[in-house]
Amino acid sequence: MLTGGGDCPGLNAVLRAAVRKGERVYGDELIGFLDAWDGVRDRRTTPLTIETMRGLLPRGGTVLGTRRGSPFDTPDGVDQVKRSMSDLGLDALIVIGGNGSLSVACKLHTEHGLPIVGVPKTIDNDIEGTDLTFGFTTAVQIATDAIDRLHTTAESHDRVMVVEVMGRHTGWIATHAGIAGGATAVLIPEIPFNIEELCARLVRRHDRGRYASIVVVAEGAEPESGTLELDAKTYDRFGHVVLGGVATRIAEAINRQTGFETRVVQLGHVQRGGTPTAFDRVLSTRFGVAAIDAVHAEAWGKMVVLRGERIETEDLTVAVGKTRTVDRELFDEVASPFFA
Ligand code: F6P
Repeated sequence: MLTGGGDCPGLNAVLRAAVRKGERVYGDELIGFLDAWDGVRDRRTTPLTIETMRGLLPRGGTVLGTRRGSPFDTPDGVDQVKRSMSDLGLDALIVIGGNGSLSVACKLHTEHGLPIVGVPKTIDNDIEGTDLTFGFTTAVQIATDAIDRLHTTAESHDRVMVVEVMGRHTGWIATHAGIAGGATAVLIPEIPFNIEELCARLVRRHDRGRYASIVVVAEGAEPESGTLELDAKTYDRFGHVVLGGVATRIAEAINRQTGFETRVVQLGHVQRGGTPTAFDRVLSTRFGVAAIDAVHAEAWGKMVVLRGERIETEDLTVAVGKTRTVDRELFDEVASPFFA
């Protein structure tokens, strides 16, 4: 097994569940690769047993370590993966990862025939094919707790608080935390925002005698073209856009256009840290069990998914190159009226 991409609460719970079922029911011997594909390349492994997994259910992060990057980044990367798997005598590889890692897993299976099963993870909840990813409800709870706290200080000072949450391409965390935290406005990447409209709404609200407003903004939110200048985008060495800062530009504009005192809170990686919610522990455990079952069913090229209340398997190809965006009905019916 390996964990790839950004970490996420619940990763250890997946590992633990797969090991428990694998060892107890199937008599499997499991190992973990350290630091994702780097560990596959360098053959850095650790034994995963019921003993070594003890106490990991509530622990955030991943005991295997994680990295971005892929074996396709180097000319001999795929051969190294094949060699590691055959030298170590592996029957299967379980890849627990987000959009990037699952795409790599899919390619290794479809183009190179490797026996791989995927487990979708991300706090962003943006993987196509599954109704939910673990880590998401934990991030929403952390953001909601923060918003709850911000209400009282914002009201005391009659301020506008602009709270930036994670969500590179989608506004799932912003939408759910915005609804749960009673935000005045929620800005998400799926719907370009108009800063004039936002300011007018804040003014209307304050004219009605409301003190303080909370604006929740996903880090990937974009203004309608020509309405607000954002900082130039920067990219990490894997080509992922590095975000963080849109809230500052929005807060400056609100202050300029309305005169309201504004403050910015950027929650950042605190949303990815710490113990998973009970819901995420259950989902992770179900995914871990389903992943080891999928290995024994030789469901290569599949990932485990949540569909309604059921755990099923789905082709990895369903997730590749796609982003599961926020449910517009939910946003329009429930999140957007808070603008009023
Ligand atoms: O994809 C998950 C995520 O947490 C995004 O919401 C965020 O933009 C990104 O990872 C941050 O990545 P890094 O850990 O590389 O800063």
